[in-house]
Amino acid sequence: MSRNFATQSTCHHVAIVMDGNGRWADERGLPRLEGHRAGAVAVRRATEAAARLGVPLLTLYAFSSDNWRRPEDEVRGLFALFTVYLREERERALREGVRVSVIGRRDRLAPRLVREIERTEETTRGGTRLHLRIAIDYSARDLLVAAASDVPRSRDEMSRAIARAMHAEASTEDVDLFIRTGRERRLSDFLLWECAYAELVFYDRMWPDFSAEDLEEALRAFERRQRRFGKTPAQTAEVAR
Ligand code: FPP
Repeated sequence: MSRNFATQSTCHHVAIVMDGNGRWADERGLPRLEGHRAGAVAVRRATEAAARLGVPLLTLYAFSSDNWRRPEDEVRGLFALFTVYLREERERALREGVRVSVIGRRDRLAPRLVREIERTEETTRGGTRLHLRIAIDYSARDLLVAAASDVPRSRDEMSRAIARAMHAEASTEDVDLFIRTGRERRLSDFLLWECAYAELVFYDRMWPDFSAEDLEEALRAFERRQRRFGKTPAQTAEVAR
C-alpha cells in the first residue's frame, strides 16, 4: 500500500529512537559496528518511506549525549559512519527534495564532522519534500537547562530557546508520533519538551530490520488514536465532525 498520508494524515512530525543495532549484530555473531552499518541502511529506507508517505518532518536519534560513555572504538566508528553518511547522502537528498539538518551540541564533534554537517545543511536547505533531522550529541535535559537560563516566560519563548540551544532554525516542533524499536519502552532523554502529547508506538524488532511497511503501520496506528489534548472524548469528537 502506498497511500500518501500528506493529504489525509495529521501526522506532521515522526521521531524515532533507533534502538537495537548492537543486539542485531550480536544475534548474527557480528561486531557491533556492523549493526550500526545495517542501521544506516535502515535510516535510508525510513527516510525514503517518510518522504513517500507524506510525513513532512522526521527526527532520528543517532547519538545521545550519554552515548559518549560507550567504548571509544564504538564511538569512533559511529562518528565515522555519520561523516560518511552525510557526505554520501548529500546529493541524493538534494535530488529528492530532502532537507537534512543536525540537532544537538556541535562543540564536542570532530571539525571534519562539523564541516560535513554544515555542507549538508547548506546544500539541502531548499528541500521541501521532507525535513530529516538527525540528533547527534543530543540531550533533551541539557537543552532544557540551557533554555531555562534565558528565563522563558511562555511556552513559545521556551520552544524558541530550546531551538536555539539545539541548532534548530525557528522554534521546536511538537512530536506527533514517537517510535522506538528494539523492545525497550523508554524515552531516553529524547525530545522531552516536544513529546508532551506524542503518541507512542513501540516495535520489538531491532532497528536494522525496521521496514517501510513498519512505518506505514505505525502511521495507521496513529490515525486510529483519538488525540484529546486535555479535552473530553465527546468534545474531541465534536471538533472532528
Ligand atoms: C542504539 O542501538 C543505536 C545507536 C546508539 C546508534 C544509532 C545509529 C545508527 C542507526 C547508525 C546510522 C545513523 C545515521 C544517522 C547514519 P544500540 O547500539 O544501543 O543497540 P543495543 O541496545 O542492541 O546495543
